[in-house]
Amino acid sequence: MDTVTYQGLTFEPYITRQQIAEQVQRVAHEIERDSTGDNPLFLCVLNGAFMFAADLFRACRLPKAEITFIRFKSYEGTSSTGNVQQVMGLVEDIKGRDVIIIEDIVDTGVTAHQLRQLLLEREPRSVKMATLLFKPGSLTMGTPPEYVGFEIPSKFIIGYGLDLDGQARNLSDIYVVKSE
Ligand code: IMP
Ligand code: MG
Repeated sequence: MDTVTYQGLTFEPYITRQQIAEQVQRVAHEIERDSTGDNPLFLCVLNGAFMFAADLFRACRLPKAEITFIRFKSYEGTSSTGNVQQVMGLVEDIKGRDVIIIEDIVDTGVTAHQLRQLLLEREPRSVKMATLLFKPGSLTMGTPPEYVGFEIPSKFIIGYGLDLDGQARNLSDIYVVKSE
């Protein structure tokens, strides 16, 4: 595979679509295995997680599972602003339900932590988080995600839903920024 360029930055191939598909299946099996209630609510954190959520939700064979969406924004360019805005709120009543948050990536953990706090106020039965990617070296807040597709070093990546200022989400594979 070739390198790609966005906003003057060069990115090189990092995780292939086949590797992603394998980890999606593994994470789906872990969620199925741990599932105790029969009507879990998957909560996709837009925009970045939409592609992972679509694949993960289909891969989980839980007949009464439901999915809904919430929207956050914290990134500008290639770094977190540390200031998370809720752009589109949660409408469902989650009281007594098992909620599985679906994230594209957990970086500083700020988004994940704030979302967990917000959900816990609404008295769900449980809250767990599934993330495709996790940068353990960047985590500054909250608990690590329960389900992780890939642990990666603290480098900026794009593709498969992940963006650089709105672009590159439509790449089927994941690319990492090339260090000079
Ligand atoms: P956190 O609040 O710092 O954990 O960041 C969470 C959000 O930042 C993720 O849901 C992504 O939308 C975005 N993000 C973090 N790292 C990256 C990256 O390497 N590429 C693209 N987006 C990222
Ligand atoms: Mg995100």
